[in-house]
Amino acid sequence: MTGESDPVRADGGSESEVDRIAELAKRRGFFTQTADVYGGVGGFYTYGPHGTALKDSVEESWRDLFITRQGNMEVDAPTILPEAVFEASGHLEIFDDMILECSECGATHRADHLVEDTTDIEEAESLPPEEVAELVAGHDIGCPTCGAALAGEPVGEFNLMFETNIGPGTAAPGYLRPETAQGIFVEFPQLAEYARNQLPFGVGQVGRAYRNEISPRKALVRVREFSQAELEQFYDPETDEPPLSRVADVGLPLYSVEQQRENGDLRELTVREAVDNGVIESEWIAYYLGLSLSWYESIGVDMDRFRYRQHLPGELSHYAADCWDAETEIGGDWVEVTGFADRGSYDLDRHAAHSGESFSVFKQYDDPVTVERPTVDPEMSELGPAFGGAAEAIADALAERARRDPDAFDEEVVTVEANGDSYEVPVEHTGFAIEEVTESGEHVTPHVVEPSFGVGRLVYTVLVHAYREDEVDSESRRYLAVPPAVAPTTVGVFPLMDRDELPDYAREVAGRLREAGLSVTYDETGAIGRRYRRQDEIGTPFCVTIDYDTLEADTVTVRERDSTAQVRVPVGDLADTLRRLRDGDTEFDQL
Ligand code: GAP
Repeated sequence: MTGESDPVRADGGSESEVDRIAELAKRRGFFTQTADVYGGVGGFYTYGPHGTALKDSVEESWRDLFITRQGNMEVDAPTILPEAVFEASGHLEIFDDMILECSECGATHRADHLVEDTTDIEEAESLPPEEVAELVAGHDIGCPTCGAALAGEPVGEFNLMFETNIGPGTAAPGYLRPETAQGIFVEFPQLAEYARNQLPFGVGQVGRAYRNEISPRKALVRVREFSQAELEQFYDPETDEPPLSRVADVGLPLYSVEQQRENGDLRELTVREAVDNGVIESEWIAYYLGLSLSWYESIGVDMDRFRYRQHLPGELSHYAADCWDAETEIGGDWVEVTGFADRGSYDLDRHAAHSGESFSVFKQYDDPVTVERPTVDPEMSELGPAFGGAAEAIADALAERARRDPDAFDEEVVTVEANGDSYEVPVEHTGFAIEEVTESGEHVTPHVVEPSFGVGRLVYTVLVHAYREDEVDSESRRYLAVPPAVAPTTVGVFPLMDRDELPDYAREVAGRLREAGLSVTYDETGAIGRRYRRQDEIGTPFCVTIDYDTLEADTVTVRERDSTAQVRVPVGDLADTLRRLRDGDTEFDQL
């Protein structure tokens, strides 16, 4: 199970919305299938110039809110990590999807998707493979590629990680990370130091993740290489609370497990109500749902096509105790764009057990206290000869095991993991004891709440939700109503005509605006109406035209994309006016 929910079907919706965006995306440089000249490769897309600019804007705005404004740290880990990381994280064992191969044409399909696409069943992912095989047979499902009957084909498990070798030979297998998160978890001991061991603290990362999806589909929705913006919020479950009052009054469109089972209606609750009524169990999840809501709107998600849906028990990833997804509606389907998961101490516990290192934080008490504590004092004269070079690591692992699980020392032999191997140590050589000690603090293994944003799915949502058609001057027009703050280009600069001093002046204005930090496209080709249409289609919110009045009076025309209204602005005020319009500090109709 990948933990990625399949889109829950919504009523109606039009496929053509998706087709229109695919066509526009290619023609206008948002995204296109990779290596098209060689027939393309499934599940890989290349962002063109405007797509890259839009994606960068979404990532920058995410960074601003989730890193800078929350006082969190950001890291940048490698995309390839050694096998030990994914043994510990559980991905090697459990990160599987159900695969079914058509024996007629050899095409492979995601078995649970076949069932969900052809029946009313929405949670096939949570069923055992044998049951899914029965459903395929029972519903006479045919191969989407060749039409042959799939009844009787076995349903297997397929691990989604891309495997590689680190260095020559096969001695050091590595995997392309299926989530950016593990690059953060494995560095936790160091990150806690950087945070001066003060919980709570958050660590974020924006970067690529890779999943060898069985059936990539719907453009950027299900691909094999994609960007995630993830935040790991580390906190002490006993004492740390989020700053809930900052978002307490935000109204959340919630689709809880209960509502999914009962009536299928959304329920609007404020963050405070959702926590007080127990609809959202984790205050940290509630905080991030509240914080994120206006951010989605700010990047251009249509909030009438948005909801927070709680995972059904069978959908939860192997590491999650609870999870709420932000979902957007695209072409009649609900698509998960973000998972807000309660990962508890799963990851830090696993990495502690597998590495033998401490993945806890030392919390200082106000005053020292006397308590009973399990301790070990391993007999190295026994461990050395028995375990050789691993003895030191085993001693550390024993100390960690005694702290986390003292009952393990009730047996004659205690098993610990060290350096990736499992060792059995006779208890009599561990020096295990319960001692009364005066302590100045305690080791706490933090819990983690993780908002994990899929950048590509957000970019795709923004494009689909921004698409508009209308009529201007009796001509049909297509435009993207993306918010100025994230638009690929903020301003198009045109000379009214390609003659006299107009182009030189326009180029000079464009240069000045670029110097002022604005993203500018200069265009002098074709009729002015066509130039406006080009910019409308890529979502440029403002166009500046240099005409003969400019030469006389040093004013330019500024045209707003959505209303097509125009005002004259002095050239000297232009950069500042456009910057304020982009940043939402002023409205166009106030000019
Ligand atoms: N670290 C948690 C995690 O990776 P996830 O729900 O599997 O959780 C997080 O993925 C987000 O990554 C999803 O909400 C989705 O937006 C994006 N995502 C996951 N698989 C994807 C795929 N194959 N193609 C595009 N985006 C994907």
